[in-house]
Amino acid sequence: MNEIKKLVIPVAGYGTRFLPFTKSIPKEMLPIVDRPVIQYIVEEAVAAGIKDIVLITGYSKRAIEDYFDYNIELENLLEKSGKTAQKELIRQVSDIASFTYVRQKEQLGTGHALLQLKHLLGNEPFIMVSGDDLYAGTPSRIQRLKDAYEKYNCPALITMERSAPSDYDRYGYLKVAAELEPGIMEVTDVIEHPGFANAPSSHASFIGYVLTPDIFPLLEKTKPRPKGEIYVTDAINDLAHQQKVIAVSGDGLHFHDCGDKLEYLKTVAEFALQREDVGAAFREHLKKLLAD
Ligand code: UTP
Repeated sequence: MNEIKKLVIPVAGYGTRFLPFTKSIPKEMLPIVDRPVIQYIVEEAVAAGIKDIVLITGYSKRAIEDYFDYNIELENLLEKSGKTAQKELIRQVSDIASFTYVRQKEQLGTGHALLQLKHLLGNEPFIMVSGDDLYAGTPSRIQRLKDAYEKYNCPALITMERSAPSDYDRYGYLKVAAELEPGIMEVTDVIEHPGFANAPSSHASFIGYVLTPDIFPLLEKTKPRPKGEIYVTDAINDLAHQQKVIAVSGDGLHFHDCGDKLEYLKTVAEFALQREDVGAAFREHLKKLLAD
């Protein structure tokens, strides 16, 4: 069995839910206090032992590449002014992992984004996660996916329970053949936006997959959705008809969709309240705001 060495993060999307901000700045660079969302995701991968990060990037996303690059001028300035801790801090961001960037020239969905890597991934398994979602809690989402792959040696996806009626028009849902052990299920179908009446279960599919290059021929045949986007899950549905695919429960993880304005604000507040440097003062400020 091949080891998982690469984390793939598509970051080329337009981020239309966050306009006008995303007109020129990637939503993956939205700060959670003082670190961008994408950094938390990279740190999650590194903590799980994955240090090859492949970003599928696009027009107006240069800020991400610059963020993970050295900024020698700034480092020199910090050094000269005796701010060595800050110099170390910005150096660590660049040295945390190794980064590869591939461009997606048209934003035709996460499946189309992944297809841009067909020539690059060889015969290796890899993990793919979204560039704007955070999952708080342990074991982390990436760790769970990696552990499941190492145990079952087959593609896997993250699932969480979602059963509000509107969820069934928002997520994909899994048809489950069997529970292999608590938190691991064998999946036969992944049905995108099934609607409440047609949902095969309440196990919703979230972006967080272990895949192998077997996905590429299926992605090439996947038909775009009505809005022109190619979904990875449609190809995973075909894959599950051909080979074993498992779902790994994300139960106990707290999902933050930072590409959504309200969810982003909640995330910043939650993370800020836990911070040693600003948490206590921020709590006082919130109390005051709410009392007024
Ligand atoms: P989203 O669906 O959240 O991104 O994709 P989006 O399309 O940019 O968002 P909205 O709905 O318009 O606000 C999840 C991840 O996949 C990337 C996004 O950048 C995000 O990190 N993505 C999406 C691509 O890389 N390419 C695409 O064509 C679409």
